[in-house]
Amino acid sequence: MRIAGARCVVRSWRSSDAASLVRHASNINVARQLRDRFPHPYLRENAKAFLKRVSAEEIPSNFAIEVDKEAVGGIGFVRGTDIERFSAEIGYWLGEQHWGRGITTEALMLVTVDVFERLNLLRLFALPFADNIGSARVLEKAGYVREGILRASSVKYGIPRDQAIYARINDRWRR
Ligand SMILES: CC(C)(COP(=O)(O)OP(=O)(O)OC[C@H]1O[C@@H](n2cnc3c(N)ncnc32)[C@H](O)[C@@H]1OP(=O)(O)O)[C@@H](O)C(=O)NCCC(=O)NCCS
Repeated sequence: MRIAGARCVVRSWRSSDAASLVRHASNINVARQLRDRFPHPYLRENAKAFLKRVSAEEIPSNFAIEVDKEAVGGIGFVRGTDIERFSAEIGYWLGEQHWGRGITTEALMLVTVDVFERLNLLRLFALPFADNIGSARVLEKAGYVREGILRASSVKYGIPRDQAIYARINDRWRR
């Protein structure tokens, strides 16, 4: 998969991305906003295991955000099951040196449209920590609507945290 925007390219991960993945992912300012399954420090073996896993995905669900020919971030989704099978949670991160240039907003817009069209998903949602203002802005700019706050719905580094829930609905969904 490869979708080119004005600020970045969203594309499939490659085994050659390991070094840049470690360079950009191994940052506490990134990891502290994400699930614990995103390790910190982010080591070469973590990158290798991740790249191996995503290369075997039956339905590709994890993509690199590429800037200047380098993978500098990631965006991916996890699809629900049973009655939530037309819904997926989306998540993303970007290397800190690239923050504040509209890159993640563009990547999220590109992936949202692609997933809605290609996989006919009905709903995409995200669960940023309630105080993650940057991520909330990204979601709003990409057309996601804040639906509420999930109080004490997570624990990060031993501290209970509220999450906001944002969602965008596919108005072209087909039964
Ligand atoms: C959140 C993150 C993905 C944003 O990526 P980005 O490419 O910098 O985002 P964009 O440039 O597209 O947009 C960021 C917006 O948030 C705003 N913003 C960022 N931090 C802010 C803050 N502390 N207070 C107010 N606004 C803030 C920016 O000004 C910008 O809004 P604007 O265009 O209206 O000025 C990036 O900071 C990141 O990877 N953070 C760590 C991981 C993470 O939080 N992932 C999301 C988990 S839900």
